[in-house]
Amino acid sequence: MDGKSLNVVEEKLNDLKKILPEVFSEEKIDWEKLKAALGEDIEFREERYHLNWAGKSEAFRALQTPTTATLIPDKEESVNFDNTENLFIEGENLEVLKVLQKSYFGKIKMIYIDPPYNTGNDFIYSDKFAERREDYLKRSGTKDENGMITREGLFRNSKDSGHYHSNWLSMMYPRLFLTRTLLREDGVIFVSVDDNEVHNLRMLMNEVFGEENFVANVVWEKKYTRSNDAKWFSDNHDHILVYGKNKENLKFNLQPRSEEQLKSYHNPDNHPKGKWKATPLHAKSGTNITPYTFKNGITWSPPTGTYRRFNDETMRKMDYNDEIWFGENGKQIPQRKSFLVDVKEGVTPITIWKYKEAGHNHEANNEIKELGLTGIFTNPKPTKLIKLMNQLSTNNLTNDIIIDFFSGSCTTAHAVLDLNKEDGGNRKFIMVQMPEPCDERSEAYKAGYKTIAEIGKERIRRVINKIKTEDEGKFDFAKSKQDLGFKVFKLRQSNFKIWRSDRIGSKEELLRQMEKHADPLAKEAKIEDILYELLLKSGKELTSEIEYKDGIFWINKNEIAVVLEKFDENIMKVVITSKPEKLITLDRLFQNNDQFKTNTSLQMKDAGIEMRVV
Ligand SMILES: C[S@@+](CC[C@H](N)C(=O)[O-])C[C@H]1O[C@@H](n2cnc3c(N)ncnc32)[C@H](O)[C@@H]1O
Repeated sequence: MDGKSLNVVEEKLNDLKKILPEVFSEEKIDWEKLKAALGEDIEFREERYHLNWAGKSEAFRALQTPTTATLIPDKEESVNFDNTENLFIEGENLEVLKVLQKSYFGKIKMIYIDPPYNTGNDFIYSDKFAERREDYLKRSGTKDENGMITREGLFRNSKDSGHYHSNWLSMMYPRLFLTRTLLREDGVIFVSVDDNEVHNLRMLMNEVFGEENFVANVVWEKKYTRSNDAKWFSDNHDHILVYGKNKENLKFNLQPRSEEQLKSYHNPDNHPKGKWKATPLHAKSGTNITPYTFKNGITWSPPTGTYRRFNDETMRKMDYNDEIWFGENGKQIPQRKSFLVDVKEGVTPITIWKYKEAGHNHEANNEIKELGLTGIFTNPKPTKLIKLMNQLSTNNLTNDIIIDFFSGSCTTAHAVLDLNKEDGGNRKFIMVQMPEPCDERSEAYKAGYKTIAEIGKERIRRVINKIKTEDEGKFDFAKSKQDLGFKVFKLRQSNFKIWRSDRIGSKEELLRQMEKHADPLAKEAKIEDILYELLLKSGKELTSEIEYKDGIFWINKNEIAVVLEKFDENIMKVVITSKPEKLITLDRLFQNNDQFKTNTSLQMKDAGIEMRVV
């Protein structure tokens, strides 16, 4: 078709859209709807209430495809690697979520994500499902020696792409599915979104988390000024969808009182119980309307149509404890003194979050500026917003784990570190961010940040330094319990060779593969990288305690013994005496000595130690 005829078709379609907008879906004609609109008596193919889009099945397949990736540590980029339980994982989040499934199953208390909103300008990661995972990984995670994704892995999802909503839903669907399994039974997820996709996200989350686990659609006032140049409305809010893993098990903390709320408490009469605020003695419902006479002789009755809130005995107690307020002149309508110490620690959260308590976009940019990262990242969230989510859903006493797998500039890590400092908590964070390249014309690139992941890591380092310098001289760091570090891990191909059954078309190829797999480990694999891959495969956390002694890595004291360098009689004896639950070692260490391998296996069996040779 030449350009001219295409325009003719386009024009016709535009005309049709003006008179029959309802027959279009993602800019294409839905033929069933067109027939129905033209009066034909048709039966819709899928007559049931559900969310569907072009590519849903493929997205589901992406979720089910096993990963061949792993995570390798990068100590140089980390802070306090050996003693921290915070994590920064650099990699594409679908793969990372798959890699984390076994080790973090049911362990996460709170998830916050701020995915691309689908504004028509966003870069979306393309999960090329049909592609072989190996090639996919090469393209997505290890394009060059530095492990950078190129723009090839991303595409701009423009509004006229034809599958604008579908593309976004296909990206979100598998990722949400994989996060649900990570949540604890009393866990909660908060997702930021705006009007571009809030309707679809609500349906999608109903499908993944169950409609019964919907908690709230919070409206967050992201801006404090009005855009007077807006054509229709000044868009001043975002949505935050909140779902529980199992709503019945989910309990929120009360929201700490704001400065504003505390302002209404005073102590004009110097009452020994401290600050109070006057509240009515009547209630809208009840049964008692009899008058009551106080010890100063004033008689009070509830106003018409209302009832007494308290019985005679309580009224007497309050009166004698000087807990009734008769105004400055002692003659006004009596009210109860509600003391700050008696009311609940905080207030029940509401679904409207004003910028005064939850921050705003401008404040978020200033926070980055204060860290010396001016103009380096567009559209961060304010720490106050994420702190509030944490205050409501996590606890300062229980080492809760918080994950953000669209972490951008790592505001979530910043908020967790700040909150721990404020309330002495021990919350842990896991940030996941792919090494999305910064545009070469951007401030970030000019300042030396090649990827968004680099920005995130640098922000965490600067926040840690800020906390340290702020407190210098105030308390002893050696004794401080706050975890001021993070371990960096990067998504890479497995250290083990992948068995390619799809390539075996001939006997020769089968033999070739068998030969290649005589030692299943990749030649260049480093001991430490293999160790972490084995931890993940065994369902152990990346922050497990690791102690190296005499050729054996001891995981979480005595849970697993991992032997990766050499295996001899001596090592066998140490393992048997220490009695770990499991021994993991490499086939190559037995150097084709089958007799020794069989003997070791029998001895481990006798000692009740599970042995895995890889
Ligand atoms: C809106 S930003 C998050 C901003 C963040 N809340 C903050 O305050 O800085 C979304 C981030 O998700 C990242 N992202 C998008 N798709 C991703 C994927 N498939 N894997 C990992 N990161 C991804 C983008 O690079 C971007 O930095």
